Amino acid sequence: MELPFDWAADGSHGFKTLGVKYPTNSLAWYRRTFELPKEDEGKRIWLTFDGVFRDATVWVNGWCVRHHEGGYYPFREDITDVVHFGGRNTLSVRVDATKAEGWFYEGAGIYRHVWLDKTAPVAIAPDGIFVRSEFERNIPRGSPDIAVEVRLLNTTANATKATVNCEIISPAGKSLKQISGMGTLQRKSQRTVELETKLSSPVLWSPESPKLYKLVTAVSVAGKTVDQQETSFGIRTVGFDPTQGFLLNGKPYRIYGTCNHQDHAGVGAAIPDALQEFRVKKLKEFGCNAYRMSHNPPTPELLDACDRLGMLVMDESRLMGSDSANLKKWDDLIRRDRNHPSVALWCIANEQFMVQDTPQAASVARTMQDYVKQLDPLRPVSYASPEDDVFRGINSVIEVRGWNYHYGPQVDQYHAEHPSQPNVGTEQASVIGTRGIYTNDRPRGYVAAYDVVWPGWTTTAESWWGFFAERSWLSGAFVWTGFDYRGEPTPYWWPCINSHFGILDTCGFPKDAFYYYQSWWTTNTVLHLAPHWNWPGREGQEVLVQAFSNCKQVELFLNGASLGKQAMKRNSKLSWQVKYSAGTLSATGFDDAGNVMAETRVETTGDATQIQLTPDRRMINANGEDVAVFTVAALDAQGRIVPVAQNKISFAIEGAGNIIGVGNGDPSCHEPDVFVPTAPARNVAVKDWRWQLARIPKNRAPVPEYAKDFDDSGWRPVSGGGPTIETPDTAAIYRAHVKLTEEDLNGAGAQLCFSGCDDEGWYFVNGQFVGESHDWQAQPIFDVKKLLHVGDNVVAVGVYNGAAQGGLNPNVNVQIIGHTSVPPWARSLFNGLAQVIVQSTREAGEFKLTASADGLTPATAVVETQPCPPRPFVP
Ligand code: GAL
Repeated sequence: MELPFDWAADGSHGFKTLGVKYPTNSLAWYRRTFELPKEDEGKRIWLTFDGVFRDATVWVNGWCVRHHEGGYYPFREDITDVVHFGGRNTLSVRVDATKAEGWFYEGAGIYRHVWLDKTAPVAIAPDGIFVRSEFERNIPRGSPDIAVEVRLLNTTANATKATVNCEIISPAGKSLKQISGMGTLQRKSQRTVELETKLSSPVLWSPESPKLYKLVTAVSVAGKTVDQQETSFGIRTVGFDPTQGFLLNGKPYRIYGTCNHQDHAGVGAAIPDALQEFRVKKLKEFGCNAYRMSHNPPTPELLDACDRLGMLVMDESRLMGSDSANLKKWDDLIRRDRNHPSVALWCIANEQFMVQDTPQAASVARTMQDYVKQLDPLRPVSYASPEDDVFRGINSVIEVRGWNYHYGPQVDQYHAEHPSQPNVGTEQASVIGTRGIYTNDRPRGYVAAYDVVWPGWTTTAESWWGFFAERSWLSGAFVWTGFDYRGEPTPYWWPCINSHFGILDTCGFPKDAFYYYQSWWTTNTVLHLAPHWNWPGREGQEVLVQAFSNCKQVELFLNGASLGKQAMKRNSKLSWQVKYSAGTLSATGFDDAGNVMAETRVETTGDATQIQLTPDRRMINANGEDVAVFTVAALDAQGRIVPVAQNKISFAIEGAGNIIGVGNGDPSCHEPDVFVPTAPARNVAVKDWRWQLARIPKNRAPVPEYAKDFDDSGWRPVSGGGPTIETPDTAAIYRAHVKLTEEDLNGAGAQLCFSGCDDEGWYFVNGQFVGESHDWQAQPIFDVKKLLHVGDNVVAVGVYNGAAQGGLNPNVNVQIIGHTSVPPWARSLFNGLAQVIVQSTREAGEFKLTASADGLTPATAVVETQPCPPRPFVP
């Protein structure tokens, strides 16, 4: 297997149920062997897990080196003492996903990257670099101070002098500054070397212009470079003002945010790095400029994507607590993430209903907040509070008051009462809708995608955003959610399997709400109509039509006839009731002066006749990690997407790519997201057992009665399944014959499966010992293919009954296992669309994806895979 990988998304309809009732789904072991050359002797060897869901125990060469509980925090261990240099090493990890941490889908297993780092005995400590820029009064004018802290680690038994050289490289790749410093490290100790410089004419980072600088840090001892690391960083200021709201680079900057879980169609929680990038780009399309890592620390590659593409981040702890274990995780997280310019805000917790008003919660919040201030003095701290006008507990100590769901007079009142506390909408909206659906449909688990209210604690996009948009002191907010995610299928439960809150569905296909936010969060001219116009059978009936637009006026037409022009209020949308007749529903948007700004139309389409396959990129890297994301659509004869098409599409791939997941955004679809190799199995019963009391050795030593050709015809038949040995401390031998055909033996394997042996057993096939059992409750299984032949085979078991009654349960089978094959990948379209995720192999060239369906013209698409050295990996 390759990482990242989420076993809960594997081979099922989006997720396998985990928990105490499902032990076979909830526990797994991973093993990986790796080579360490002899020359590495003397180096420190580190193992870092970016995240494991959850409860991981790690062994290296049989040494238990770590137990880590949390499913989202990174953890690292120095494994130098227990590795073999110049030999093979075995890493084993037991992962137990039985317990949950959230109330949403969380995945299972080693779902993020794992790293093996080799460092010199004197080196940069893990996450030991911190680079920050500081302007006077936090306003970017003039030359910022650049402060660099390099924490060094000396694992040797001698005091050592180390030199740190840092080079700053501009976003354009120009070397700007060299700074250096020295430090003496005591034996087995850490020490931070602090360096400072100024940079003139800095290029500022922002979501609109995500310019990144590079810091190259080199450490040398006795004139020899022992460590070197590159850290990308950005120069920008963030802050919150009680009246102006969030400030980016000294200016008020509206947070157009979304909350998101780490979950995507096809792959679950194991999101390939390139898919993180795909998702961030999708969010940016409707103007989203901020990402709340709800409700857990992210994988670093997601932060990298936010740095590169321009997306602010609220980085969130999974657990609130000031105990040493939680503070260690908080510490690790802050040190890991504090160089990312995208990270603009820390969030200590989400909705701590049970404790949030207590003085103890206030103290814990203060401790966590103070921690941030020590480790990262320039970033603000918030708490996602589900409370109204309440200034107790956490809200009374937190730097930036977070608002989950509340909007209205109480918020204004709170602000009036606490005018010096800044505010941010940490979680808003929770508007629900299913992509392409326009009536609530409980049996099918769908919700109309118009902007209408559903759960009691939520409201329409128009109402919450209307309120926030008018109040700059609220800073903007994070919508629940950018993408749909597995779990929380509000307002329905099973068999619905994912949420309906997303502005995008689980694949990233836009719902109509996308255009609402795009209208008011971007400067693009937007005009979008909902619903689609395929309503056969509803002729003459009224259909609700909504226009999402930022034009000043919108005129609606049905088949060319005007249905009226309406003025668009800022931050709102328009509605018409339209008597349906097939044809074209169109709209024209105007500016204040009556000039046409935009036109759009939805047309009644014909039936689907052809498939369309569109990759997000035509060329990806041949590194075994990159992915191309394909949109699959059904088109009518005129090339229009058929918005109601539900055709089942099959996929085939050739060349340098593998399909890793499929999806369609349908919250009620139980088709698999991942097709895994399966092997057919069937049973051949081993019947007509005979038995006889006997003296047997309590070991594998054979006796004549185990032999293939022993004559057992005079033995007693075993009838029923009950005990046959009536007295304790007594032994017996059981024998049976089973006839097998050539076909039986042509399979991939054959296993002899017993239902129980009370108390101990020694098992023989055709006279050959195959194994033993010592637990009367066990159901032993032996791999016996090599010992079987066509025709008559003999199974013999020596049984020792220690206490009470005992014997062999005669319900025995030979399980014939067929050859493994991967079922063909397929997915039904949901309202015209589906998605296929294809990952490159390490071979440069191309791959060709073909999509076909009964009655439709198939489609093929080719993506090139360009040469790209894979990341270094341990052999
Ligand atoms: C919030 C919670 C989220 C999600 C949401 C659904 O209260 O923080 O995790 O459950 O409700 O509306």
